[in-house]
This record gives sequence, C-alpha cells and structure tokens, in this order.
Amino acid sequence: MLLSLIYWPILALTICAASNPLVPHEKRDAAPAGFLLSSPASSNTMLDLRMALKQSNVAGLEQALHDVSTPGSPSYGKHLTSEEVAAYTKPSVESFDAAVSWLKDRGLFHRAVSHAGDWLQFSISVKEANEYFGAEFSVFTHEETGSEIVRTLEYSLPVDLKDHIKILHPTLSFSPPNVVPKITASRRRHLATRQAPPPDDCPVVESPACLQVKYNIPTTAATQPSNTMTVTGFQFNWPLTFPIQAFLNFERPDATLNATFDTRYADGAKNLTLAGDSEVFLDLEYTLGIATGVPITYLLSGPGNSTTADFPTMLLDGFGLLLNDTVPPQVVSTSYGADESNFTPAVAEAVCNLFMQLGARGVSLLFSSGDGGVQGGTSTGDTSETCAAFGPTFPSGCPYITSVGATRNIPEIAAGLSSGGFSNVFPAPSYQAADTAAYITQLGSTYQGLYNPAGRGIPDVSASGVDFRIRDFHPEWETISGTSASTPVFASIISLINDRLIEAGKSPMGFLNPFLYSAAGRAALNDINQGSNPGCNTTGFAAVNGWDPVTGLGTPDFPRLLAAAMAVSV
Ligand SMILES: *[C@@H]1O[C@H](CO)[C@@H](O)[C@H](O)[C@H]1NC(C)=O
Ligand SMILES: *[C@@H]1O[C@H](CO)[C@@H](O)[C@H](O)[C@H]1NC(C)=O
Ligand SMILES: *[C@@H]1O[C@H](CO)[C@@H](O)[C@H](O)[C@H]1NC(C)=O
Ligand SMILES: *[C@@H]1O[C@H](CO)[C@@H](O)[C@H](O)[C@H]1NC(C)=O
Ligand SMILES: *[C@@H]1O[C@H](CO)[C@@H](O)[C@H](O)[C@H]1NC(C)=O
Repeated sequence: MLLSLIYWPILALTICAASNPLVPHEKRDAAPAGFLLSSPASSNTMLDLRMALKQSNVAGLEQALHDVSTPGSPSYGKHLTSEEVAAYTKPSVESFDAAVSWLKDRGLFHRAVSHAGDWLQFSISVKEANEYFGAEFSVFTHEETGSEIVRTLEYSLPVDLKDHIKILHPTLSFSPPNVVPKITASRRRHLATRQAPPPDDCPVVESPACLQVKYNIPTTAATQPSNTMTVTGFQFNWPLTFPIQAFLNFERPDATLNATFDTRYADGAKNLTLAGDSEVFLDLEYTLGIATGVPITYLLSGPGNSTTADFPTMLLDGFGLLLNDTVPPQVVSTSYGADESNFTPAVAEAVCNLFMQLGARGVSLLFSSGDGGVQGGTSTGDTSETCAAFGPTFPSGCPYITSVGATRNIPEIAAGLSSGGFSNVFPAPSYQAADTAAYITQLGSTYQGLYNPAGRGIPDVSASGVDFRIRDFHPEWETISGTSASTPVFASIISLINDRLIEAGKSPMGFLNPFLYSAAGRAALNDINQGSNPGCNTTGFAAVNGWDPVTGLGTPDFPRLLAAAMAVSV
C-alpha cells in the first residue's frame, strides 16, 4: 500500500509526460550576425523567463485603437482607461488557469508582470527549461563587446499549453547585454564657440533656435501641467543635470529654462550618478529646449537580469509601466532601436501589441527609424558593404508607432543616414497601404528581392537630424547626427500641439498615424523630395513627392499641424 502510494506520483508524472508531448513553437537557424555560439549553458544557471498568454480580444483592441485615432470617427479622441484596455488584453480564465497550474505543478513560482495578467514571469534553471520546453539554452558571445547571453535557437511548448501561450521570452531574441541598444551613428566634433547668433549659424549647426525658425515652433512656454512628455532611455544611460543646464542657458537665453525633469525606473534601473553617453543628453536637451515648459520625465529601463537582459524586455517593462498609469504621458520620445532581424516575429509582435495598447490609451509614441540608411542598425557607416537584403529596424516596423527619419540642409533634403524601408514582419497597415503601393510602383523592379513589398513602410515622418549642437559630460560643445536627433524634435512639436489642444478643452492627439496620413495631416507637413538613404552598396531609396521610405510624409510645420489638429480634435 505504502509502496504504491510512493510510486503513484511517479506514475502520474509519466502518464502526464506521455500525454503531454511537446509541440515545436519557435525556431531560428542560427544566431544573428554578431553573435557566436560559445558553449552549452551550465544546467544550474537560473533563467528569468516570462510567458505571454493569449489575450482575449486583440481584434477588438485594434478596432478600438482605430476608432479613437481616426479623425472623423465618432470615438475620435475618446481614449481608453487602463481597465478598458485590460478588458481586451486579459487572458481567458482557461488560458490563465492552464498556465498557472502547469507552473505550479512543476514547483515554479510565478508573478504577473502586467496589470491584465497576460505576462507571467518565473525563474527556472537551464536544466528544467531545456527539459520542459525541448530547448537547448546555450551561451552566445556578442563579438563586438565579448559579453555573454544565454539563449536557445528553438523551443517547444507542452501540448496542453500551446493554445494558451504566445511566446516564451527571452529565448530566440538576441540583443547584446550591457550595451545601450542604439541605432545612432553619432559623430563628435568640437566647436569652440557659437558661430553666429541664429538664424545665421543655422546652415552650419542645428540648435533649438534654428529649429524654431525652420519649423515655426513657438518660443513661449506651454501652460498645461497635465500635458507631459516622457523621454525613454535604456541600460546605463544616466543624465547629469549640469551639462543640460549649461546647454539650456546658452541655447535658450530668451527663456529661463531649468534642467528639471522627473525620473522613473523600470527593469532594475536606478540613479547611477555617473553620466551616460551623448544620447541621453541629446534627447533631454532637445525636448527641454524645444517643448518649452512641458513637464518632462526621463524613464530609464534596464539593465535587467544579466543572462536574460534584452531590449524587448526593457521595452516591455518600461512601456508597461506607462500603460498602467492612471494618466499616462501624452507623448513618448524614444531614440533607440535595433535590427528587426534580431527578434523573432512573435517577439516583435508581442512588443508591438503593447504599443497598440498605449495608442488606445491616447499616447503618441515616436521612435527613431535608424541611422544606417537602407542597411538599418547593423551598418558600420560604410555604404559600399554588400548585404543579402536591406535591414528594416524595430520598433519602427510596428504599425502602432510613429517612426521618424532625418533630413538635413536648408532647404531640406533627406539625410543619407535616415533608415527606411519595409518591415519583414508587419504588413502595410490600412492607413499607409496606398502610399507604400504607390512608391513600389514607381520603383519598378529596382531592388527586387532586397525588401518586402508587402511590408509596413518606415518611416512615417522626418525632421532635421544632422549636426545638432549638444553638451554632454565633456567640457566642449559637440555636434551629433542621427534619427536620434530628429525624434525628440518631432515629439516636442506634438507635445506643444497637445498643450494647445488641452488648453482649448480638446483631447490630445494620441496615436498619430491615421491623422498624419489623412489629407489634412499630409497638407500640414513639408514634403521632402530630394536625397536618398544609401547602404548595401546601393544608392538606397530616393525621396520623392508624397510618402517615401527615407523621409516618410515629410517634416513638421507647427502652425499648419496645430490648425489641422484643432480642426479634427474634439
Ligand atoms: C497597476 O495599477 C494598479 C492600480 O493602480 C495596481 O494595483 C497594480 O499593481 C498595477 N500593476 C502593475 C503590474 O504594475
Ligand atoms: C528656473 O529657476 C529659477 C531659479 O533658480 C527660477 O527663477 C525660474 O522660474 C525657473 N524657471 C522655470 C521655467 O522653472
Ligand atoms: C531577476 O530575476 C529574479 C529571479 O527570477 C527576479 O526575482 C528579479 O525580479 C529579476 N530582476 C529584474 C530586474 O527583473
Ligand atoms: C541621483 O543621485 C545623486 C546623488 O545622490 C543626486 O545628486 C541626484 O539629484 C540624483 N538624480 C536624480 C535625477 O534623482
Ligand atoms: C558595388 O557596386 C558596384 C557597382 O555599382 C560594383 O562595381 C562593386 O563591385 C560593388 N561592390 C561590392 C563589394 O560588391
């Protein structure tokens, strides 16, 4: 009797395993370029994994986003609360129970890491993870930095879970640990002094005053304290206030601007007291310096857990925090990105789904398109390097965000560094499909096979992005270029427009693209039709009349955008 009792659980487990085989779920042939397989991961290494459960009504959420973001729709501007979004994204009771009991049966402690309960995090050893998920977790070395991450090239799901789980993460996603996930091709150059007062120095260096002239941006302070902008940063990119204050004193003598911003932390970030790289200074100086008087928050995400840290996790945790805010920021500016090919389609979709939720809540998300021309984030800057295909970037390929490319010169032409092209994961969304089709028609057979003609087009819009004067922890003035520069400019203009909308008792703009691609939206932008984005030993895509995969629909003009927004907003 006793014996059979002792044996019973073992027997049960055997039956369970036999009746619960594994079903292959995700697989990639090799690690992406830049990562080398070093060795099997040691079996007792602990992994910090999470599972995304199937959400109850993604189609409903997508429709809700469309309705609140499309001018003329009866729900335009009626953004959703956190609870209303969660009603669409919460998993079904069956999915939640299946996942939780599966974890409990294996003694795996879990916690929900999203308000709707659609993401569960758990700690698991490599040995268990390999066994339960038919995986082969291994150590991969990032060649450039020598840092190591633990990933697998494939995994399966127990058959009982396969209908309830979208992905396990991080498994097949590769981003280097302890490296800021940047797409910036920054250049440093020392400038002894300001050349001349603006606008006379504007053909030489870009500055807040030059941008105010170029885009007719008001210099007067915003008045609505409820209208806020969040600037995101990742890994160890910490701002110091004294260079930012020096920048503001010098660049905006017309206004008494203080280097004052709130800070928030996600995914293990903290006040590091040590200065990050020039990115964080660029992003804060050009939001504080242009969005005059708008309350700004710096949200730092990462580094996360050493073996499993990655860019998608930092995005999920950082933006996930905003999703649960009672009043989320109206605008978020992000000058970071990576090659879409670093992530599996399922991971890109899971992160993009979070951006859809934030759009439904009324948040305008702006991301840099990348600085490697058509080659994307892997470009070394050598445009004669050949490639098997062009390199679309992420998150720019996500159709629920606004991707910002770069221009240069007066009058403006496309900046060669401006990444653009077509996603290999996301199809062209309805608001954009006629534009991408028209561009591809005039392209003819050129570049056939190098890009996905059915893909979402990148970028949506652009702004000046070359030779921005900044101040960082170095004692000199420097210039820096990239879509990292253009993104805070466009974001700041949207933030100032929201200030006027809120003052007039209207809703902020929320997800921008349906408005930008409408007749009124495009008429409020400066169409750029000169220049191209070379890469992969080609001249890249050319800027043309209308939308193009270098400058999108064009650059902003504050008075025209404000008038168009006032006319549609309710
Ligand atoms: C989201 O906010 C609610 C209430 O504001 C809180 O109870 C909950 O813990 C938050 N969830 C997460 C995942 O932060
Ligand atoms: C900046 O700080 C000074 C005092 O240090 C104050 O007089 C001024 O009003 C502040 N400006 C803003 C925009 O907060
Ligand atoms: C790292 O992983 C451990 C174990 O899973 C977890 O308790 C902790 O919250 C994680 N840290 C971060 C910053 O996510
Ligand atoms: C970070 O910590 C330093 C030292 O304690 C402090 O002076 C600084 O104000 C902090 N910065 C922020 C943004 O909290
Ligand atoms: C780049 O293209 C040119 C022709 O446009 C060709 O002559 C050259 O060999 C190519 N370079 C490489 C590295 O393939």
